Amino acid sequence: MSPDEPTASDQETVLQNQTGDRWYENGLIYGVDVKSFQDSDGDGVGDFPGLTDRLEYLDRLGVTCVWLLPFYPSPGLDNGYDVTDYYGVDERLGTPGQFVRFVREAHERGIKVLVDLVVNHTSDRHPWFQRAREDPESTYRDYYVWAEDPPEPEKEPIFPEEESVWTYDEVADAYYYHRFYDFEPGLDHSNPAVREEVCEIMDFWLQLGVDGFRIDATPIIVQKKGLDSTELDDPHRILKQYRAFASQRNADAIFLGEAGGEPDAVRPYFGEGTGDEMQLIFNFTLTDYLFLALATERAGALDAAVDQLHLPPEHGQWANFLRNLDELNLEWLSEGERGTVLDRFAPDDEMQIYGRGSRRRLAPMLDDRRLLELAYSLLLSMPGTPVIPYGDEIGMGDDLSLDGRDAVRTPMQWTDGPAAGFSTADPDELIRPVVSDDRFGPDGVNVRDQRSDRDSFLRWVTRAVRTRREYPVFGRGSATFVETAPESVLCHRMDGDSTVLAVHNLADQPASVSVGTDVDGLAPIFDDERSELTATDPLSLDLAGYGYLWLRAGGGPL
Ligand code: NOJ
Repeated sequence: MSPDEPTASDQETVLQNQTGDRWYENGLIYGVDVKSFQDSDGDGVGDFPGLTDRLEYLDRLGVTCVWLLPFYPSPGLDNGYDVTDYYGVDERLGTPGQFVRFVREAHERGIKVLVDLVVNHTSDRHPWFQRAREDPESTYRDYYVWAEDPPEPEKEPIFPEEESVWTYDEVADAYYYHRFYDFEPGLDHSNPAVREEVCEIMDFWLQLGVDGFRIDATPIIVQKKGLDSTELDDPHRILKQYRAFASQRNADAIFLGEAGGEPDAVRPYFGEGTGDEMQLIFNFTLTDYLFLALATERAGALDAAVDQLHLPPEHGQWANFLRNLDELNLEWLSEGERGTVLDRFAPDDEMQIYGRGSRRRLAPMLDDRRLLELAYSLLLSMPGTPVIPYGDEIGMGDDLSLDGRDAVRTPMQWTDGPAAGFSTADPDELIRPVVSDDRFGPDGVNVRDQRSDRDSFLRWVTRAVRTRREYPVFGRGSATFVETAPESVLCHRMDGDSTVLAVHNLADQPASVSVGTDVDGLAPIFDDERSELTATDPLSLDLAGYGYLWLRAGGGPL
């Protein structure tokens, strides 16, 4: 990096807002764990050539952005979030050249690519940590946070199986700080040298063509790390510097923040209205309340949650999701509410994890095609950008015999048969076993069968995504909730360059609804084929159990 280029430690760096194309506002983000998606060379591990060959599939599904989970060299003790080399590609997954080819071919189809930026911590096997523990004089020592006699921790470890955020290292004869696993020592971002490293890493991947980063553990990166000396005077300033740096390199690059918490605590990570921190932030609160609404069949749980979220600033947007490839984390509900959701959707101990969530995939949890469509219909019509993990679009299942969160990280199911078209390797030699139960295994759930079946969930998701994309107001509009009775019915309205309305019945029982709205000429654009619009003035609907209907304003031919 030349000295006159902006650096993270340049305290005066100010982001001029350069974001021209707000491409992230109206699309579908698809999360891919490359090693579990498609193996091209028969070694039992998914890879970049395999993923590249599946771009046509993603394109047809309506994916506008692929989020790649960590694919860097790693011991793999935390599904790749324990990185040992920020500049490499795990050899089993391909070469840097194959990565670049993937990005180029994705771009040729108009699909953007986000990569995970995991800089809250490194693996303990990262050369920086190795040098740091061996040599107290090394520059790398201060990349991490050490204490001979650690103070009483202010924070708990994120994973309950960890005893403390301080772990003793024999080589260093000192304790180091970590919020996640003990093999993931936390980097100290109050050290300017660490910030330089972060910028170099971003620079590298932006040069290779990526369109932005999912910022792993966003608030934790810049939280005070255990010692007063590492206190970050203004955490947002550091994130703004990272963002300014990325924007200098690519004005349209975005940050998708992983920040869970109360809305008021999370909102500041959007920055200050000029888009100077995160453009997108995962909407953990909405997920929790959406599951509460489904479990209780009460719409109120959801509109209260959306009220709490307020609108993000001009350049920000919530990234909505039903499931990701971690646990379904219900920690933002009260204990009673969490119990209600778990009783309904993950009643057995083996389905639960960390005392706060479920480790099941969406389809087995909801266990009813009508409910699955309802949940997806909510996801796709709520204000924000929808994010789905690979495999949920075909209703893939889980394997609860696998450890912890690996239950939902099984190979993608392309065809029927033992290795599910994921790999030509012996099914016993795959990176993870394919789901084997009768209903959710590849004989029951696979892409090939669903592609040729017009009633399949895949074809339904594709239609829903296409409809949403035809009405950008779903992504860009502002939302209001329209009062309706009964309490199982949620009606929300999005206003922008046009107006759309979505009505959802969260109960198993049918409901007749009359909606007080001044919108003229409403006409259905998407529905469950069981519910009906019976009158437009006033707007009256007969909703089937778990039924839904989207309408657009404006009259005229459809
Ligand atoms: C969030 C990731 O989604 C999760 O899988 C990981 O364990 C933690 N961050 C730590 O990197």
